[in-house]
Amino acid sequence: MVRIPAFDKLGFPEFPVVLAPLAGVTDHPFRRVCAGQGASLTYVEMLSAKAILYNSKRTFDMMARHESEAILGVQVTGGTADDTARAIEILDKQPFDTIDINMGCPVTKVVKSGCGSAILKDPERVYETVRKARAATDKPFSVKVRLGWDRSTVTIFEVADAAEKGGAEWITIHGRLRSEDYSYPVDLATIAAVKRRLKIPVFGNGNIFCRGDAVQMRERTGVDGVMVSRGALGNPWIFREILTGSAEVTLDEWLDAVTSHLAWQQAAYGPGGMGAVCMRKHLLWYAKGWPGAKKLRERINTAASIQDCLAMVHEFHAELSAAGITRRLPVAGGCDDEGASTGQRFVWDPKYDMDRQLDRGVGDDALQPV
Ligand SMILES: Cc1cc2nc3c(=O)[nH]c(=O)nc-3n(C[C@H](O)[C@H](O)[C@H](O)COP(=O)(O)O)c2cc1C
Repeated sequence: MVRIPAFDKLGFPEFPVVLAPLAGVTDHPFRRVCAGQGASLTYVEMLSAKAILYNSKRTFDMMARHESEAILGVQVTGGTADDTARAIEILDKQPFDTIDINMGCPVTKVVKSGCGSAILKDPERVYETVRKARAATDKPFSVKVRLGWDRSTVTIFEVADAAEKGGAEWITIHGRLRSEDYSYPVDLATIAAVKRRLKIPVFGNGNIFCRGDAVQMRERTGVDGVMVSRGALGNPWIFREILTGSAEVTLDEWLDAVTSHLAWQQAAYGPGGMGAVCMRKHLLWYAKGWPGAKKLRERINTAASIQDCLAMVHEFHAELSAAGITRRLPVAGGCDDEGASTGQRFVWDPKYDMDRQLDRGVGDDALQPV
């Protein structure tokens, strides 16, 4: 097996399974839940280079690292190579183990300011951004990209070459174009072609909802690790499943993780207010795979405090226990012959978007993938 210095430095297992930065989602309470289930690395939500340079309090608040977090990455996106490099100089002094540049975010507000996937249109700019960023930090450093802007601007090969040449230590590829929504399949063949082309490691991203999806991504593309995104929403056990093969989630494990999340949420944001509102969407997700989830979902919208949430969760647990239900149903809808998940995959639903005002740093529409 070829050793990868950046992976060794970060203490990664042989095949790392990473939690993506997710705007409006990956604050430290949720990251801790995922780390507890084996995520090899977690990230702070994407930050704007401009906001960092303006010393935005909200953005610096988002950088908070909990003392229990053994490893933590940060992701930034900037409208110019210079802005990005200057922001990375600042991030270099913050308590992060690794820094990623986002070149894939499709959100209109983000791309209008030349950030996120707008960078993909210009591989020369990718090179300049990565080169200057590399000079701004000695920390392990990566980029996250999509395959290109649209069908007529598929730049992934030039972008990947530019990232490698500029000094990125690995690249994460979300196998879709900026113009494609989540109903488009993930292009594994192109991820495989990039993997064959590069010397640096490649992480695969897109539609990883169960171990079978991760295995398929690995076998079909040869990637060195995977990044899990929507698959972790309400299902932090996906990390354990991918790493160990054990897909079972018991009712008591579920209660333990959800109540820990609630306790950490309260410690981070207080007993009511936006911390509680923000928890609603997590509870909607945690309800997946349990009989009677509809009833819980209907009630969640009325939760005004963490105590309300806790009461609903305990009541739900008691009802399921009384009905003799001790194990969760598969949330990815089962697997096909090759082990990849089929059926009802989790699709972003605007009703989960109730606390989008909490989407600090990158703009309100960041929770609404285009
Ligand atoms: C709510 C939400 C927030 C996201 N925020 C980010 C982000 O801050 N940075 C990033 O690189 N990708 C972000 N993404 C994109 C995901 O990381 C990932 O690339 C995409 O969802 C494809 O993976 P999936 O099909 O497994 O969900 C976000 C996606 C969602 C659904």
